[in-house]
Amino acid sequence: MAQYVMKGGNPLHGSVDISGAKNAALAIIAAAIMADEPVTVNNLPDVNDVRVMLEAIREIGAGVDRKDKHTVVIEGSTINALIVDYEYIKKIRASYYLLGSLLGKYKRAEVAMPGGCAIGARPMDLHEKGFRALGAEVDEGYGLISARAKELCGAHIYLDKVSVGATINIMMAAVLAEGKTTIENAAKEPHVVDVANFLNSMGANVKGAGTDMIRITGVKSLHGTEYSVIPDQIEAGTFMYAAAATHGEVTVRNVIPKHLEATTAKLLEAGCRIAEGDDAVTVSARDITLLPTQVTTLPYPGFPTDMQPQMTAVLGLADGVSTVTESIFDNRFKYVAELIRMGASIRVESNIAIITGVDHYTGAHVSAPDLRAGAALVIAGLAADGITTIDDIHFVERGYEDFTEKLRGIGAEIERVDNERDLRKFMFQVS
Ligand code: UD1
Repeated sequence: MAQYVMKGGNPLHGSVDISGAKNAALAIIAAAIMADEPVTVNNLPDVNDVRVMLEAIREIGAGVDRKDKHTVVIEGSTINALIVDYEYIKKIRASYYLLGSLLGKYKRAEVAMPGGCAIGARPMDLHEKGFRALGAEVDEGYGLISARAKELCGAHIYLDKVSVGATINIMMAAVLAEGKTTIENAAKEPHVVDVANFLNSMGANVKGAGTDMIRITGVKSLHGTEYSVIPDQIEAGTFMYAAAATHGEVTVRNVIPKHLEATTAKLLEAGCRIAEGDDAVTVSARDITLLPTQVTTLPYPGFPTDMQPQMTAVLGLADGVSTVTESIFDNRFKYVAELIRMGASIRVESNIAIITGVDHYTGAHVSAPDLRAGAALVIAGLAADGITTIDDIHFVERGYEDFTEKLRGIGAEIERVDNERDLRKFMFQVS
């Protein structure tokens, strides 16, 4: 079983290049199969979820030509099956995007019930409500969600809750529907805007993405395009928080600073220094005392739930009591037990973590309960005294490209090992 092993205590320093956004790329891959011509996607992150998604569309007949690590050409016109039940697809939440894209293009889709990180109940009711409003029949059964329609017609859809997945999925289905669709109370996340821009580059007519009202006028068909995925704000935030926790100084490059506003605002409150460039942000926590603060996760432009565990790992080292309130998902504090094993002092009451900062963490053998929680444990391990090993890193590898290589590039002593001998070798080298 692969593990991360690290020796903590080195302040991280230097620059790191941020990859394309996983959550944008997954939706863009699904949307690409709606075009009648080849689509080139650049700045694709080389992570496991992306590999699974590409394999899933290949399984139903799409052409997938991986030109290099970060570029793929997708040919959707060769699709010959509308059932996506590929073994691994259940493990990624974003498989639900194939429902929207196949329904939009072929008026029929059956997709394995999506899995993803176990961070709480993750219903599909809003996606289904949107598809039904467009005229589809939607059923769940035998581990599949199926949707079919004679034709899709534009509709006015109000989302009772802000949902990134439902907003993108409905938007995809609506671009080839007859007439006008409006999505009210839409999610405003950067990747919603990115998918809308991508769809428009294929000839779709989507307006208002990035506001809470998206207006779509259906078109007859979509053509080929070449498109570059936006940078990953969560990957960037993770490196920034690692810099804070280790009292280092790190520049994240190839980012859109505007997308990081909530993430940087909380670092400033925690006492860090921030310098923003056009496409880079530098965080310095050298010679500072980390300060406590209050954080509540909210839909964009609020503080992202996908940065919540990493924030807790930083505030666990602040000089005082902080609170972190999770308002999006109902079970996103499973990692707290692992942080406590590393010496953190955290109490969870309902959806609030009450964090009393400690002077330092101590290395321990812990386990990643999900993707972002795994990243938080890496941050804690890099800040800790001694050696930390992390199990279940397959979660982390779903969403971080070359994580250990990038961390080593900014001074971390970390290795991915998959056998006892390499683990011992690392221990010997760092001792
Ligand atoms: C996406 C991201 C995930 C991120 C989350 C919130 C992907 C693949 N995943 O997940 O990394 O943490 O956005 O930014 O992009 N909800 C319903 N009914 C629905 C759909 C959602 O009640 O039909 C609820 C959810 O339970 C949750 C809230 O809406 O409480 C937001 O979820 P949503 O934005 O849909 O998250 P995901 O698309 O699953």
